[in-house]
Amino acid sequence: MLREMGSNRTADGTNNIENEETEIQYLQKGVRHLCERGLTRIPSKYILPVQERPDLGDTWNASKHNLKLPVIDFTQLQGSNRSEVIESLANACEEFGFFQLINHGIKDDVILEMIDVSRRFFELPFNERSKYMSKDMSSPARYGTSFNQNNDKVFCWRDFLKLSCHPLQDTVSCWPSSPADLREAVVNYSKSTKFLYLMLMEAIMESLGLVETTKGGEGKGSLEDFEDGSQLIVANCYPACPEPDLTLGMPPHSDYGLLTLLLQDEVGGLQIQNQGSWVTVEPLPNSFVVNVGDHLEIFSNGRYKSVVHRVLVNSCKSRISVASLHSLPFKSTVRPSPKLIDEANPTRYKDTDFASFLQYISNPSHDEMDAKTFLQSRKLT
Ligand code: OGA
Ligand code: NI
Repeated sequence: MLREMGSNRTADGTNNIENEETEIQYLQKGVRHLCERGLTRIPSKYILPVQERPDLGDTWNASKHNLKLPVIDFTQLQGSNRSEVIESLANACEEFGFFQLINHGIKDDVILEMIDVSRRFFELPFNERSKYMSKDMSSPARYGTSFNQNNDKVFCWRDFLKLSCHPLQDTVSCWPSSPADLREAVVNYSKSTKFLYLMLMEAIMESLGLVETTKGGEGKGSLEDFEDGSQLIVANCYPACPEPDLTLGMPPHSDYGLLTLLLQDEVGGLQIQNQGSWVTVEPLPNSFVVNVGDHLEIFSNGRYKSVVHRVLVNSCKSRISVASLHSLPFKSTVRPSPKLIDEANPTRYKDTDFASFLQYISNPSHDEMDAKTFLQSRKLT
């Protein structure tokens, strides 16, 4: 019962905090900092209500809960099979809101360095990491914990480093200077993922019937609209958790942008909602998990789905993932493409922009689960 209530959990130290620091101030320092004390139980701040906890007994081993997402071969997309691949892409975005991208052509060392430098950043002494802690959502480099740590009633088991990448020449100098190779690794990674994103958006525009068919990926169509868009790289660190059945690495949410490209190590933990249940995405070596964000759902007038997902943690292995979130420029308005609107398909969403999303999630009356209802708030009924 003590466990359920979470009261008097000593959290192996959190009731014994030096310098009269309050427990919440202590927890704001993140889960890595907490783990460095060698805890065996999680503090009550991380314990989800029973109905929101993951059913791990059922999840990690049962293959029926594993999902093989549609696989899109990037090389084939650029080749003579382009039209078939575009059809698969359209199906994936309609049915799952997710797909895995293979043969993406990004060099191994760019990928490995990105994961490695993220891991080394989180391993830095806390005083080094904490230089980048900020409540300012628009800061070009922001280190933090949980999902939305200023508002979350229950914290989640994740620390993050968020780096704005657009325009690179203005933001790089604000990023952490330690590890010494971080800036170079993230610049290389962000350029590579931006290129992939643009190629995918070109294919997506084509799949929606919004550009001329391009032969072998030569046509440039309306890519210019996307080139100047925002890019945010989020390195996520999910330390091994002593009680993974009581908490989550990330609560159910959808991503706000047009597309997210997610790089994950071999540990796994991402789950997506599919036909009313949570299914685990099996990590595929050398691939990206790509998902439709809220803005693409709006732009496609609901044809492509921004699907709710969450992250499980486990008791054995720490996990790193790196999400690259792409959207339109910060100030532009996202609305259903006029070419997709007619009498049979009336406009289904209100106009929206990034600033109103930030305003929405930073409103303290919205709790941590509201990120997924932002899209709901944009729907016309
Ligand atoms: C995200 C996200 C999933 C993961 O960063 O928005 O959903 O597995 N990440 O880290
Ligand atoms: Ni996400």
